[in-house]
Amino acid sequence: MATSGKVIRCRAAVAWAAGHPLSIEEVEVAPPKAGEVRIKLVATGICRTDEHLLQGCFPNAEFPVIPGHEGAGIVESIGEGVTSVKPGDKVIPLCHPQCGECSFCLNPESNYCLKSHALVNEIQMFAPPYSFSEPQNLLPDKTTRFTCKGKQIHHYMWVSTFAEYTVVPEYAVAKIDPAAPLDKVCLLGCGFSTGYGAAINTAKVKPGSTCAIFGLGGVGLSVVMGCKAAGASRIIAVDINKDKFAKAKQLGATDCINPRDCQKPIQEVLTEMTGQGVDYSFEAIGLKETMIAALASCNMNTGICVMIGELDAGSKISLDPMLLLTGRTWKGTLVGGWKTRDCMPKLVSSYLEKKFNSDLLITHTLPFAKVNEGFELLRAGKSIRSVLLF
Ligand code: APR
Ligand code: ZN
Ligand code: ZN
Repeated sequence: MATSGKVIRCRAAVAWAAGHPLSIEEVEVAPPKAGEVRIKLVATGICRTDEHLLQGCFPNAEFPVIPGHEGAGIVESIGEGVTSVKPGDKVIPLCHPQCGECSFCLNPESNYCLKSHALVNEIQMFAPPYSFSEPQNLLPDKTTRFTCKGKQIHHYMWVSTFAEYTVVPEYAVAKIDPAAPLDKVCLLGCGFSTGYGAAINTAKVKPGSTCAIFGLGGVGLSVVMGCKAAGASRIIAVDINKDKFAKAKQLGATDCINPRDCQKPIQEVLTEMTGQGVDYSFEAIGLKETMIAALASCNMNTGICVMIGELDAGSKISLDPMLLLTGRTWKGTLVGGWKTRDCMPKLVSSYLEKKFNSDLLITHTLPFAKVNEGFELLRAGKSIRSVLLF
């Protein structure tokens, strides 16, 4: 392409500081270095995790930054040594990579690649002497490909999809079917895959089982779809916003409950409704109270609770150990347990074969310049997923 090897000037949504609206700026995007891929984004979803980033909930995430991690696009150019994609390929940038070589990638049971930017943060949190001050919102070689007004701009989760062009490591990009509609399958980059996989891969929901899903945003509703696909016979959807219930029912929920309408704590309500608690519970909100409530809602012997929602970095939860001693299992999931590079093309194929309908999550489609409006809709609880088109 004519732009190959050159700096591209294009629009991006830059967060200059926490707590401020995004500003649409002209940025310079450097060409991909060896092992990297430059992508022309076509569409991107807005996920709650981007909102957490904007509110400054992740101390390791530095500003200024270009957020966004639920995108889809077309390869514009490739760096030296890149073999798995070529210019013109349709791709999904991966907010969790799959290097294919580390011990976790080689283990069929895990999807948490050791090359993940998130893992670097986790090591920093739990194992001093790693420094908190070391920037992590950079590409693996600790540099950025974005500049704006003479300043270096950070990447986010390596993918920064709120930009017309972005640069990602080759192991953080998945080539997908050329027939895929990018304005729809962008949701597979995070929200849909996270929720659907939490049910299918992490909980391994069995046919005939009972499930409870806390939080009916894009992630929680995708859990509902996963539970339905796995053959659960009772799917109880929990949210404080009753406007979410119609969509939950459409996607497979058999019961919808607003904890604010209940006289008792929601875990007691769910236990009474099901006799001994649900077989599988999922937290897709990101609050300590609901994480504990979800855990307490599952059967004390065999229940499995999957944590999906994110708390502010450094948060701690305290719980009564009896909740676990009796036999419950408490698990977490990242991107729904999918090995991202292997599974993203397969998920796209399943989408094209209509094995699930993630389009039902898209409530708003907006031009990229209206990115702040998209966040307002999310904050007001009016959207499930807004997709921005470039
Ligand atoms: N009890 C029940 N539901 C609640 C509560 C509560 N106390 N508080 C909020 N909710 C509901 C909201 O009404 C909303 O419908 O949780 C839902 C959250 O949905 P979104 O904000 O759209 O978030 P989503 O993008 O689905 O992400 C959910 O997963 O990946 C993480 O960071 C993400 O923590 C977030 C979670
Ligand atoms: Zn790996
Ligand atoms: Zn996300």
